[in-house]
Amino acid sequence: MRNIGILLSGRGSNFVAIADSIAAGRIPDARIAVVISNKPDAPGIAVACKRSFEALVIASKGKAREDHDREVAASLKQHGVELVCLAGYMRLLSPWFVQQFPRRILNIHPSLLPAFPGLEAQEQAFAYGVKISGCTVHFVDEELDHGAIIVQKAVHVRDDDNERTLAARILEQEHLAYTEAINVVLDGKFEIVGRRMKLRTQNSG
Ligand code: GAR
Repeated sequence: MRNIGILLSGRGSNFVAIADSIAAGRIPDARIAVVISNKPDAPGIAVACKRSFEALVIASKGKAREDHDREVAASLKQHGVELVCLAGYMRLLSPWFVQQFPRRILNIHPSLLPAFPGLEAQEQAFAYGVKISGCTVHFVDEELDHGAIIVQKAVHVRDDDNERTLAARILEQEHLAYTEAINVVLDGKFEIVGRRMKLRTQNSG
């Protein structure tokens, strides 16, 4: 059984999508060992409690980044977590934290990276006037929204879209993309060459 740890700060719909995928057998042989929020009032942590997951608030407010990260990492390790999934975790991770889980931290971002990193990516894309946007699941490295890409899904921008309708269609794809990416990483049948993550086929060994 592979133990997944979820870090979130808000609504938690990506966490719920991952939980539902596990429950439905779309992510086999895995469980969510712990859900951690850095925000006491995150709706996602209330959902985690209601669904009887191990749910913790480790508040980040007023703490130095690495001090907070050390508390979070200790809890993840205590729960035997081997894969950390950031699901709307709106806090930069320290290099120290990233090094604790090499190629074992995933993030989801609501744009086709490297376009529109940072906050409110869907609004940025809409305002820029792009015709195609989407979402990206990537490994986390020391830079913001930067590590090697695992899965991307494209979403066409319609003429009658606004920021809200576009974000909603991107979110549907996020939920699919995260399950796909988790399966790729847990299966381990990939290699990373430069920035490129390539699936290993049977013939490539
Ligand atoms: C999602 O759209 C996710 O891609 C985004 O926050 C939202 C969280 O929603 N993450 C980022 O922008 C990270 N840079 P959720 O709490 O319902 O999963």
